[in-house]
Amino acid sequence: MRSYQQSIIYFLQQKDLSACEAELILFWKSMSAQDAAKFFTDLSFLVTVLRFLQEQYWLYNNEKPEPAQFGHFVKRFYKKELKTVLFMHATLESAQVRQVEEMRKQATLLQKAVVQFLKNEPGYDRPLFVSTCLKLMSDFFEFEYQLKIKNEGLSGYTEISLERTFDALDEIFQIKCDITCNSKITTEERIFEGSGVGVQSSYSTILLALRYLKIPQKARFVDLGSGYGRVGFVIGLMRPDIQFHGYEFVDYRVDMSKKISEDFNMPDHVHFYHQDLSLNNFLIPEAEVYYLFGPFTDATYAHIIEQLNVIGAKKPIVIITKGNAREHFMTVMQRKHWSAPQVFHQGNFCLFRSHGR
Ligand SMILES: C[S@@+](CC[C@H](N)C(=O)[O-])C[C@H]1O[C@@H](n2cnc3c(N)ncnc32)[C@H](O)[C@@H]1O
Repeated sequence: MRSYQQSIIYFLQQKDLSACEAELILFWKSMSAQDAAKFFTDLSFLVTVLRFLQEQYWLYNNEKPEPAQFGHFVKRFYKKELKTVLFMHATLESAQVRQVEEMRKQATLLQKAVVQFLKNEPGYDRPLFVSTCLKLMSDFFEFEYQLKIKNEGLSGYTEISLERTFDALDEIFQIKCDITCNSKITTEERIFEGSGVGVQSSYSTILLALRYLKIPQKARFVDLGSGYGRVGFVIGLMRPDIQFHGYEFVDYRVDMSKKISEDFNMPDHVHFYHQDLSLNNFLIPEAEVYYLFGPFTDATYAHIIEQLNVIGAKKPIVIITKGNAREHFMTVMQRKHWSAPQVFHQGNFCLFRSHGR
């Protein structure tokens, strides 16, 4: 029997995937949810890394009289970007550059096919599949993060980005962030209507924050502006001991989040509420961790952060800021209560810790 890695190579080398449909379905049915997760994450990573290799190869040969032999060129990535896909080294070493393009297209089709299968297969253990994927993804993001630290300042170095590599997981959750409201929502808030996947934190941000935070057992986690619920689903599956509460203005996002948390067996520890955070009577509940990625108005930011200052002055808490929430937080926070932020990915997200009393 082939390993899941040998199967990836085997399917990547098939000329016509649609001709292998029956074989593929049999193969997925025979795989455990854990092996399917390894298959899916390695495959998703391959889609990104093959594109990266193509770009690097093009840049390397640009303005050179003779293009380098691809099999020779690719070896320089073995200890870096290709370190986690050792099983692909021999295949890549013997490939021509046009075969890399074919493999990438094939990997994309294969990824779509596996997602379709997992979405539609009745009785499939999707929670186990997704939680295994999240653990594997967390290792990939840590690997990417360490690679970035190691190569910082290296001249002529282009980074690989895994920011959107695993977004196909949304399809398995059935997060539909391209849906927009039929009736016009009138509010001063910026609710990111029509911004698609950009309204959500990347899996990379959520999983790295979780890895570096080391949240104590049974902690409470509050997402202020929870959108379609991605943060809650990741926390809920990775850390079922945590009580997660997400507050969101747009009601169809809340409805979708609630449905998904039920579908993935999380209704007892992952909760979503329809709430306008700008209202004066909204009091932020006490928790140990707060997540802030809002495109809120200045007034709403001030209202929220003033309350977080009060909570942070009483007890140690952590605030995760994403994007420009950091600047808003730094403007309104009372510095004496907070340590300097721990900064990730050039400030894309930060962890602020309060000292408490
Ligand atoms: C950028 S999204 C972040 C979603 C989620 N926290 C994540 O990181 O994936 C911010 C969310 O805040 C919501 N929002 C904006 N103003 C709000 C308000 N006054 N009250 C509640 N939610 C609000 C928006 O509708 C949007 O869904």
